[in-house]
Parts: sequence; C-alpha cells; structure tokens
Amino acid sequence: MAIREITKQDIRGILKEHEQHRDSLIPILQGIQKKLGYISEEAVEVISSHLNISENDIYGVVTFYTQFRFTCPGDHILKVCQGTACHVRGCKRIMNEATKYLGISPGETTSDYKFSLDSVACFGSCALSPVVVIDNTVHGRMSAQKIKRLLKAIE
Ligand code: FES
Repeated sequence: MAIREITKQDIRGILKEHEQHRDSLIPILQGIQKKLGYISEEAVEVISSHLNISENDIYGVVTFYTQFRFTCPGDHILKVCQGTACHVRGCKRIMNEATKYLGISPGETTSDYKFSLDSVACFGSCALSPVVVIDNTVHGRMSAQKIKRLLKAIE
C-alpha cells in the first residue's frame, strides 16, 4: 500500500469547515488525522499560516495529545497495553513477540504500511489482562503465542 497522501487542497477543504481562529486548531487537527491518518509536515505548515499560529506551537499540541501521530499509520494498528495489570500478567512477552514478528518497535510502522505498533498505558479492561487492541477490537487474556497467531491471520 502506498503512503496515504493529502493535498494542500484537501487541507484547505478541512480548514474551510472551521472558524479561522486558534480555538479551531484541535478540530482541524482531528479532521486531518481522520482523513489522512496522521498529521503531516505539510499540514502543519498550512495550518500555521491559516491560523497564524507558529509551527512550533502546533507541534507542541500534536505531541501533547496521544490521539495524534506524525507518521503514516499502517492498515492495521496493534496496541499492546503496558499498564500495571497487564505488566504483571506478561505484556512484556507479548510486546517482544510483536516487535520480533513485525520487525518494528513501538511507535513504528512496517515498511509495507501493513502494521503499526503502539504501546498504551491502560485500556481500562484490566480484568481481561493482558490486553491488546487490533483495529479497535479488544483481545483479552493475550499471550505471546496468541499474538503471533492473530498477526499471521491478519496477513
Ligand atoms: S493495565 Fe492493561 S488494560 Fe488496564
């Protein structure tokens, strides 16, 4: 799959949906994230000039909120919980298996853009720990063997 692309025209279309005011920054970023899957450098440039906010300020906002990302996500996003309950029940082995199988570290995307791997502090499903989420579906009582099977099934 090719990297998802968004043109300046697409970005301007999203800008038109919002007031030209700095309070619109978050909704604009959400609109771009929804359309593109991430916040590109080009998007930051265009927003900066449109809202008269420095690019540094925009980068500050994007890095503050975990909902935003700077890199193009893969077709499938695997999130491995690293919270206390999951830690106690072996999430480290699951993360190790996922990084080994996919050949990437948390926060990265495979070179074919098939998978992205992220770590999360807690999904709020501690009773099911250890927990992973793949494409918004929760998989509880995970193990290193199960995660490998799940990833193979998706390929
Ligand atoms: S610690 Fe993993 S779901 Fe809460």
